[in-house]
Amino acid sequence: MTDLSKLESANTAIIGSATTVADLETARIEILGKSGNVTLQLKTLGSMSDQERRERGPLVNQLRDRMIEYIARRKAELEAAELDTKLAAERVDLTLPPPPERRGRVHPTMQVLDEMIAIFAEMGFGLAEGPDIEDDFHNFTALNFPPKHPAREMHDTFWLPQDAHGERKVLRTHTSPVQIRTMQRTNEKLPGWIANGQEPPIRVIVPGRTYRSDSDATHTPMFHQMEGLVIDKAIHMGHLKWTLDTFIGRFFETPLVETRFRPHHFPFTEPSAEMDVRCDRSGGDVKIGQGDDWMEIVGCGMVHPNVLRNCGLDPDVWQGFAFGFGIDRLGMLKYGMPDLRDMFASDVRWLEHYGFSAFAAPNPATGLS
Ligand code: PHE
Repeated sequence: MTDLSKLESANTAIIGSATTVADLETARIEILGKSGNVTLQLKTLGSMSDQERRERGPLVNQLRDRMIEYIARRKAELEAAELDTKLAAERVDLTLPPPPERRGRVHPTMQVLDEMIAIFAEMGFGLAEGPDIEDDFHNFTALNFPPKHPAREMHDTFWLPQDAHGERKVLRTHTSPVQIRTMQRTNEKLPGWIANGQEPPIRVIVPGRTYRSDSDATHTPMFHQMEGLVIDKAIHMGHLKWTLDTFIGRFFETPLVETRFRPHHFPFTEPSAEMDVRCDRSGGDVKIGQGDDWMEIVGCGMVHPNVLRNCGLDPDVWQGFAFGFGIDRLGMLKYGMPDLRDMFASDVRWLEHYGFSAFAAPNPATGLS
């Protein structure tokens, strides 16, 4: 046996005994690496006489080619075997029960919002929306706020920095600017979802986020309101009272909730009122519809003639009423949540406790689950 055929059978044995792709790589380096045994043979060719090199050169080169081919073949074998093992180990057993999954819950604000929309929709109200970032005109001026009205001031309005036109926008402090957007026809190019002028008669509700710089157990810097606006001929406070009373009965799922209207002031309504519901606060949590206490739940009134005029409507022809609910507040009352700030703390334990199943049976009062 020549030295080269000895080397070949030794190398073939090393390659054959590699049982993993990683082993095989070690063998390849031993044979064909920089100082591998076949590489060394190739290197010795350089120091041989021409005669010797002519004889030995082709033999060494053929040996190298056979080694390369053998390693490649072994590699394919090993890879196929490794894949088989992996497939066998990772086989999916479709008969196993699925691992338990955490189910999400519907946030109480969204639940209450859906309930409110369903009740008002049945009374014939449509939906309108407006932007969270408002200009002074829609948030204050068109709503008849006098220039120095305290609500415009820093302490409860979030003002944005002055923009390129010298204007300071606000995070809307209420959903009432959408009253203006609904009544006023403009030539502005607005995204389609923003209310932009309807002919009266108008009957809309406006749910949305609102912002005030305020934080305690019943106030958060961001909260949700639902505005209501009705504009028609010969509308009066009786319609307003009936609408709110009917809504409250449906929402609290009892016809017995007693309400009262208390005179109040809003720049954009005249007369203005706050509506309270009878409640009992003696036992820590609030019980609606019983007891000797009253709780304010909605601001309302007849749309001020100046507001109608600001929107191009003749107050001698059109009248109407408006109201504004705190959506989160109503949720606290109906579902007994003690602190408004928890609503927006994103604590999953709280959500699991106060949240709603997305798949519950429909509520007979609202048709919603
Ligand atoms: N915009 C008022 C508020 O945020 C509520 C309101 C709406 C009052 C509509 C009257 C009419 O307090």
